[in-house]
Amino acid sequence: MIDLAQLRSCTKCGLSVTRQRVVVGSGPSHAALMIVGEAPGANEDEGGEPFIGRSGRLLFQLLDEEVGLTREQCFVTNVVKCRPPGNRTPTREELGACRPWFLGQIQDVAPRVVLALGNTAAKSIFGFTEGMAAVHGRVCQLGDARGLATYHPAAALRGGPSVVDVMRRDLLVLKRLLGEL
Ligand code: URA
Repeated sequence: MIDLAQLRSCTKCGLSVTRQRVVVGSGPSHAALMIVGEAPGANEDEGGEPFIGRSGRLLFQLLDEEVGLTREQCFVTNVVKCRPPGNRTPTREELGACRPWFLGQIQDVAPRVVLALGNTAAKSIFGFTEGMAAVHGRVCQLGDARGLATYHPAAALRGGPSVVDVMRRDLLVLKRLLGEL
């Protein structure tokens, strides 16, 4: 089990200097679905919960409409637990420093399906070398769990209906996986 007190006071990388809060994750301690984003943004850094801004609203609307799941039914977290200044992409060092926390969370929650959002999470979790256009919706094995990646909802907010449509289709793959297991 990861030590939450240690995680909340982690200083393994430089993000500990600029963060307001360590955004550990939220949801049931054993959830069938684990949703993993990149890193907290400004809202999350202030509020201490993942995906509580505009991206999160779109994500959970699509999850409700396509899969029939609410936020409260999923464990939601990020591959990096502290906000990178200006929302820049986390560095390799930051990803590496946070990786043991993230791997510990997968072990503790033991989800049946892991959904990675965006390239940073998808590459870090599944080791993909290609971009999201090539890998979205591809079903992978991750230990005992199955996994897949789709676009980050922030990319859908920027990219419009065509990206939202792809996310909807990927979420239907996710729904099938959850039904199969
Ligand atoms: N974007 C992310 O990747 N994670 C969050 O928690 C919020 C926005």
